[in-house]
Amino acid sequence: MSRKSVHPTGRESPFSSDEIIVSKTDPKGRITYANDVFVRVSGYSVPELLGQPHSIIRHPDMPRCVFKLLWDTIQAGEEIFAYVLNMARNGDHYWVFAHVSATRDASGTIVGYHSNRRKPSDAQIAAITPIYRDLLREEHRPANRKDGMTNAGAMLASLLRQKGTSYDEFVFSL
Ligand SMILES: Cc1cc2nc3c(=O)[nH]c(=O)nc-3n(C[C@H](O)[C@H](O)[C@H](O)COP(=O)(O)O)c2cc1C
Repeated sequence: MSRKSVHPTGRESPFSSDEIIVSKTDPKGRITYANDVFVRVSGYSVPELLGQPHSIIRHPDMPRCVFKLLWDTIQAGEEIFAYVLNMARNGDHYWVFAHVSATRDASGTIVGYHSNRRKPSDAQIAAITPIYRDLLREEHRPANRKDGMTNAGAMLASLLRQKGTSYDEFVFSL
């Protein structure tokens, strides 16, 4: 099944609040490990996931500027917490509250990344959904994707400035 032919179904892929979705990647974001919860919720088997870019579960409603912030942060060696909407193999969706951090070798070089994800509350999802909708709209406004990313990134920065907070503080305040 080609990933491009899969559209969101509007149905939720079950993920309960006592579970943790875990994955690890190489420095380029290709999946090197997926736990059994990841396999069940995403609908992909371990062989289908290993070696694939993590964008395999990207949902079209996710603003790309959030992933830019994620990559800028983890490549700088810092950890990030973020709300992410993901899409399972069959088009079902699931929200996660993700913690992503770098794994280093003894010399301090980043050798990969690690992510643990828990289920956000309905209130947290309700708070982040309109923000991501606005960011996505801003991203799609210009014909050129790069301009869209820049504008949406500026919109996110301005929202955080208005609230006088960092992205991390902001996500924990929801
Ligand atoms: C450890 C780790 C975990 C990630 N988890 C997700 C995830 O759950 N969902 C997702 O869409 N992208 C995730 N990403 C980001 C993807 O690498 C990618 O940047 C994103 O899907 C956007 O796709 P694009 O870079 O092709 O635009 C993760 C990256 C890393 C390094």
